[in-house]
Amino acid sequence: MSPSTTPLPAAVISGSAANHLTGPLARDLGLDVTETRIDRFPDGELDVAVDPSIRDLDVYVVQSLGPPVSDHLVELLLLLDACRRAGAARLTAVVPYLAYSRKDRRASPGEAVSLRVVADVLQSSGADRAVLVDPHVPQVDSIFSIPLEVASAVPLLAKSVASDLVGSVAVVAPDLGAVHLAERYAAELGLDAVAVIRKTRLSGSEVEVTGLVGSGRVDTALIVDDIISTGSTLEAATEELRSRWHDPKVVITATHGLFTADAVERLGRLDPDSLSVTDSVEQGGRPAECQIVGIHSLLGDVIRRLSGLSRPG
Ligand code: R5P
Repeated sequence: MSPSTTPLPAAVISGSAANHLTGPLARDLGLDVTETRIDRFPDGELDVAVDPSIRDLDVYVVQSLGPPVSDHLVELLLLLDACRRAGAARLTAVVPYLAYSRKDRRASPGEAVSLRVVADVLQSSGADRAVLVDPHVPQVDSIFSIPLEVASAVPLLAKSVASDLVGSVAVVAPDLGAVHLAERYAAELGLDAVAVIRKTRLSGSEVEVTGLVGSGRVDTALIVDDIISTGSTLEAATEELRSRWHDPKVVITATHGLFTADAVERLGRLDPDSLSVTDSVEQGGRPAECQIVGIHSLLGDVIRRLSGLSRPG
């Protein structure tokens, strides 16, 4: 017998770090954002409640884990727990930017594996599955026990930079971890040349370039990354390319623009020809010239596929 295809009624809930995305996303899905109460006790503890009307619904809790990442993570966990206790029939954590992903294994003895811890607590707080956008580790599926839907902003970002690319172009991975991403941009844009920068991280906000492989001099360097945090990776990469390739046009794009520490000043000084990120993280301070590419319709497509919701007429 084939399973029933009648979709469960759906509800969308927003964490406080995702209001900028959840409003347009809910409109895209033809839903209202379900009310929540997110208060704080004087000691900083969060006190979270959801509208009990979500009982028996297919619930999507949207929360992005930009800074302060731990606060936003705990808020997401409490929202999931509140939904589970209120009787949600199915619970999906929609996490456009997943913090704590950069430690997916022990790089040296004694380290914690933060991605594994986050995967486990999302599940133990009630998430039946999760939606992620361009997670730092491509093999993230093997770390989560719950099913994942991984969406990518690469096609949207590639489209947004296409008109900035002039003459001969190389897609540049600013470190070894970004090679797979660079290949995806190259495929999306129909480009052959991919170059890779060898980077050593000296501290949380300083990196050093130790080499460049994979392409001769070009007119435009398209530097791609998943995250911009302090901007140190992009600064080192851009300086290296400007010196090796005699001042090429520099186009920078990344999915998650955190812009922490002095990233705004650093990128301002760097003055790339173009800089773009998505709105996976709410933008407070960002470089003035930075273009923001919206991802609510990308998330809407994923949720429609998961929920069986149809496009509002
Ligand atoms: C590192 O592996 C990531 O892909 C990014 O390159 C890194 O997180 C960027 O950090 P920052 O902007 O501080 O150099």
